[in-house]
Amino acid sequence: MVSQDQEEFHREYGGVVPEIASRIHLEVINPLFTQLLKKTGIAPEQIDLVAVTSRPGLLGSLLIGMTFAKTFSLVYKKPIVGVNHLKGHLLSPGLNGGQIEYPNASLIVSGGHTDLFKVNSSNEFEMLGATRDDAAGEVIDKLGRTLGLGFPAGMKMDKLARDGNPDSVELPRPMIKSDDLDFSFSGLKTAAVIYLRCDAGKSIRQKDFVASLEAAIVDVLIAKLKSAVKKTGVKAVNVAGGVSANSLLRNRLAEWCENENLKLSIPPIEYCMDNGAMIALAGHSAFLSGHRDDMSLDCMAVCEWE
Ligand code: KG4
Ligand code: ZN
Repeated sequence: MVSQDQEEFHREYGGVVPEIASRIHLEVINPLFTQLLKKTGIAPEQIDLVAVTSRPGLLGSLLIGMTFAKTFSLVYKKPIVGVNHLKGHLLSPGLNGGQIEYPNASLIVSGGHTDLFKVNSSNEFEMLGATRDDAAGEVIDKLGRTLGLGFPAGMKMDKLARDGNPDSVELPRPMIKSDDLDFSFSGLKTAAVIYLRCDAGKSIRQKDFVASLEAAIVDVLIAKLKSAVKKTGVKAVNVAGGVSANSLLRNRLAEWCENENLKLSIPPIEYCMDNGAMIALAGHSAFLSGHRDDMSLDCMAVCEWE
């Protein structure tokens, strides 16, 4: 993969700083694209379609991608398609030849989103629920910061948790029994931060703490997905977003889906955080169904489906 890691620039602040993110986008987009062409041996003329994220996201970063994409499309006379970031996530289990079955219950779980959908086709989505406050990945990253694991902390925590005892700390499973399909993770985040300040928390082994934290998050994610499947009556489950790389979540999903005879689609681990690949796939799929954009294509910070 050709990529430019922005982590070191954001680490000092413990999260993504929008202004810094857009400045770095601006600095790296040209050299990164040149590197990509060199590495793949593809000439710009050989590119058939430009797919670009149009929403939702940090406006400054979106605008830089959009300007680059439009310029490329104009100069090389290539069609352009704007893609909703969430649609990209929803189709990402199809990367690397994966098959997505419809209708399905889909979970997007990342640093910015914890959303549930009923997805009827590659272009028909119905939102069933969402987090009312923090996303699951936000909790992971916040606690990772508190533990000095750097940012984002998901991968490190995942590795640590594999050897830990998930029953070491009793943490809340917010809204696990509520009738709706919404989530709330801010209470869990606060409870976990407070625990680390108490005497027991100060001496707990990191691997035991993170195993307990991941168990609490995964319990809620699986419980809500189960409710979504029950409510919709679908026979397929689709999971995407950075947190879908988590090994506990993947194991629990695989076990449940096998027991219930549900078809599970989830991106290969290396694609869970590959936004470029997922947007290319979703753009291609939209193009094949006749979708076209032009220079009036615009970016939006908030999510609108079309
Ligand atoms: O989808 P993504 O790349 O970006 C957003 O749209 O937010 O997701 C990033 C999130 C971060 O919170 C990161 O800590 C988390 O995904 N993450 C993981 C793992 N790998 C990445 N969380 C748990 N386990 C992992 N293996
Ligand atoms: Zn995302």
